[in-house]
Amino acid sequence: MATKYLDLTFTDAVCRAQTEYYRRAGKVVGAPERDPLNQAEAEFIAARDSFYLGSISESGWPYIQHRGGPQGFLRVIDERTLAFADYKGNRQLLTTGNVSVNDRVALFLMDYKNRERLKILGHARVEDARAHPELIAQVTDAKLRSSVERLVFIDVVSFDWNCPKYITTRYSAEEVDELVGPLKTRIAEIEAQLHTVKS
Ligand SMILES: Cc1cc2nc3c(=O)[nH]c(=O)nc-3n(C[C@H](O)[C@H](O)[C@H](O)COP(=O)(O)O)c2cc1C
Repeated sequence: MATKYLDLTFTDAVCRAQTEYYRRAGKVVGAPERDPLNQAEAEFIAARDSFYLGSISESGWPYIQHRGGPQGFLRVIDERTLAFADYKGNRQLLTTGNVSVNDRVALFLMDYKNRERLKILGHARVEDARAHPELIAQVTDAKLRSSVERLVFIDVVSFDWNCPKYITTRYSAEEVDELVGPLKTRIAEIEAQLHTVKS
């Protein structure tokens, strides 16, 4: 279990709320400085084609952006480092601006098909993409490569898995095609047989 996550999120105010409602607080003692990613987290991250990224604005408001790309575009560099590409897009640069003032970020990764979610806390660093040509190919589609302006590196502090309860199973269009493909083939076969019987 990644205890640093609970150490960071079970603040005094959270513990007070826990005590008020449940008479005891789950204060964590003896958490390490950080929890490195294990193989289970690395495999889960490598299988994702999207995630949500929360940062904190200069005015204190939370900000969340959806990030998407080819499977594995959120690259696991090592057990404590993640990286992904940031594009010249809407020219708002909200995440870039936010992390230049407060580098704390939260990543929220969903696997709707298997009803799993992973939350990650870390420190973000934004770098010029031209300084990392070797990484660009790993985190982007070939057709988008020229639009990459920045690479965002996340120094992972800890993570937490949530229970599957209340996650509705959902499939991507590709997964639906994969599941429905054999059925379509079978229907075509049966229609062909019917056609033969009729004629
Ligand atoms: C050509 C182009 C390609 C983009 N590709 C992606 C992409 O693959 N994944 C993604 O999450 N956003 C993509 N975006 C969106 C931008 O990166 C967008 O500006 C960014 O998500 C906004 O971040 P912010 O909310 O931190 O300002 C693309 C935008 C453009 C114009």
